[in-house]
Order: sequence, then structure tokens, then C-alpha cells
Amino acid sequence: MKARIVSTGSYVPEKILTNHDLEKMVETSDEWITERTGIKERRIAAPEQATSDLAFEASIKALKNANLTAKDIDLIIVATVSPDMLVPSAACILQMKLGASNAVAFDINGACTGFIYALSVAEKFIKTGASKRALVIGAEMLSRFTDWTDRSTCVLLADGAGAVIVEPTKKDEGIQIIDIFSDGTMWDFIHMPAGGSQMPVTEDVIKKRLNFIKMRGNETFKVAVKTLEEVVDATLKKAGITSSELSLLVPHQANIRIIQAMAKRLSLPMEKVMVNINKYGNTSAASIPIALDEANEQGKIKRGDYVMLAAFGAGLTWGASLIKW
Ligand code: ACO
Repeated sequence: MKARIVSTGSYVPEKILTNHDLEKMVETSDEWITERTGIKERRIAAPEQATSDLAFEASIKALKNANLTAKDIDLIIVATVSPDMLVPSAACILQMKLGASNAVAFDINGACTGFIYALSVAEKFIKTGASKRALVIGAEMLSRFTDWTDRSTCVLLADGAGAVIVEPTKKDEGIQIIDIFSDGTMWDFIHMPAGGSQMPVTEDVIKKRLNFIKMRGNETFKVAVKTLEEVVDATLKKAGITSSELSLLVPHQANIRIIQAMAKRLSLPMEKVMVNINKYGNTSAASIPIALDEANEQGKIKRGDYVMLAAFGAGLTWGASLIKW
């Protein structure tokens, strides 16, 4: 028994924040952001929206594409680092909004690797028979946890959601390999110091702007390039295929230079790499399912194609999955 993605969906908020808009907010330039990151614009949620609202829209699209209703789902996993609130999970709030009364729902925090983490858990549920149909979502509202005075992070982070529906299959298709990893020794490369049990939010915390995401970008960059190449290479070797047999690589969209360096090391032409960071920035756990849905809509993936997902993020966490579509 294998687990197969039967449909995809995604949603990004309407409001576009361009690099030129950011030039008016912090000491930066369109040229710096474009050259260093590949980002031209990103989406920012409306004040009345919460993460589960973005997840809801993406889920509705994935359900519609599969001709299903929310009642057909028995498992909901939301990958997010920016849930509506700490308690309860965004997944439970989403379950209520969808009316998915037959599902068990929970969140997973794997940061930018969150979607691959959630897909990995869903795959185990499907393979063991514990779930017959899972809804797996990556949804983020990083704009609410971004320090809009910190140019090293505010030009990167953004909002969005992507969803997939996963079902069992007896055929030789679907998720062939899915491997996830973590190394907590580098936890402080990307972190949000306050807002948890260690440092509750106080006036002093707000004054020091500790309730926002901090990133040691340059150090993260170096580990990301090396680790992503290694994890994709190991996954290809495990599957006994070469990179030339891949139809599409769908990487986490953190930085165009990370994506290009990874593609080069893997001898993969950029035509075979899904890139939409220019439009959406870094949406953490949402970036892979948004990119996957776009690739699917654009007809870039056909049944039987080999598709590779790969991500790297806070934790540190990383992972890859080889899918026979
Ligand atoms: N505009 C203009 N200048 C800037 C900006 C900006 N927005 N941000 C930083 N700079 C300056 C710095 O101050 C520095 O100036 P200095 O040389 O005078 O000190 C200079 O630009 C270079 O800074 P670096 O940090 O070395 O720039 P780098 O080329 O590394 O790019 C970036 C920074 C884009 C953050 C890159 O390091 C990166 O993408 N890192 C990886 C991010 C990642 O993969 N994160 C994981 C997932 S995120 C998650 O889990 C939520």
C-alpha cells in the first residue's frame, strides 16, 4: 500500500506588497532584494484573516478538484509556525470552518519543512490504514510575526496556504520515498524568542522586539544549500534513479540563489525546477504546496512523472520526498 496525492489547492491573500513598497518602509532596494533573494513581491493577509482562513480557501479548492466534500476527510494535518492562536490548533479551527466532522485534526511545526513533515505523517496514517483520506495543508501568516523594521527578515517573509488530499493506492504510484530530519543544535539560526513559555510577552519584550522572527540568514544559507543537495541526492540514490529522470523539483521557496545552487549541484536544468518565489516570497510551510498546486494547474506534472519535494528550515529541519505522480 502506498499513499498518493489525488488533488491540490492553494490560496494567497489579495494584497500585494512589492519591493518598491518595502523601499518606503526600511533601508532597502528593489535591486538588493531581487539580486539576493529573487523576490519581487509577496502577499499579505487582510487584518480580519487568520491562518485557518487561508488554509480553508486552499482546502476548499483541493476538495473541489477531487470532487469531495469535507465530510469525506478523516484526517486533517496543518503544518504551520503561525497558527491562529497557541491553543487550540489551527487544524481544529479549520475542521470547524470546513465542517469536517469525521476527521481528527492536529498541527505540526516543522517550520519551512513543515509540509513534508505533515505529508510524512499522513503517509504513515494512510499506509497503516488509520486514515482513508487525509487533507494535508501548509498554511502561514508570517506577516503577523515579522518585525517590519528589520530589513533582514521583512523582505523575505509572507503569507499563503496550500493543500493536498492523500488517499491509499495499491498501484506502483504516489509517494515512493519521504524522509524527514532535524538537528536542534542550530535551533537559534531561525527563531522567535518570545511568545512561548520561555519568554512570555511583556512590555519589555515588545520594546526589544523579541516577539518577532529572527534569522541568522547568512549561516542558514550555507547549511541550506549543502543539506538540500545532500537530501535530494540521497533520495534519488535510495530510489535508484538519476536527477535526469526527474520531471520536476518543487523546492521550498526561501531564496532563488539557494534553489539555483541546489539545481546546479544536482545537474538539473532550471526548466525542471518550480520557482514562484518572485511572486510570493518565503511562505514557510505553505511554499511547497502552493508551488505544487501552481505546477499542477500549469500542466507541469503528468501522471507517472517523478516529482521531488525538498525543504529546509528552522529547527533546523529538512526533508525530501520522491513522488510518482
Ligand atoms: N536590503 C539591503 N541590505 C540588506 C538587507 C536588505 N533587505 N538585508 C540585509 N542587508 C545587508 C546586511 O546588513 C549586510 O550589510 P553589511 O555587509 O554592511 O553588514 C549585507 O546586506 C549582506 O547581508 P547578508 O546577510 O550577508 O546577505 P546574504 O547575501 O546572506 O542574504 C538572506 C541574506 C537573503 C537572508 C540570505 O542569507 C538567505 O536567504 N538565507 C537563508 C534563508 C533561509 O533559507 N531560511 C530558511 C527558511 S526560513 C524559516 O524557516 C521561516
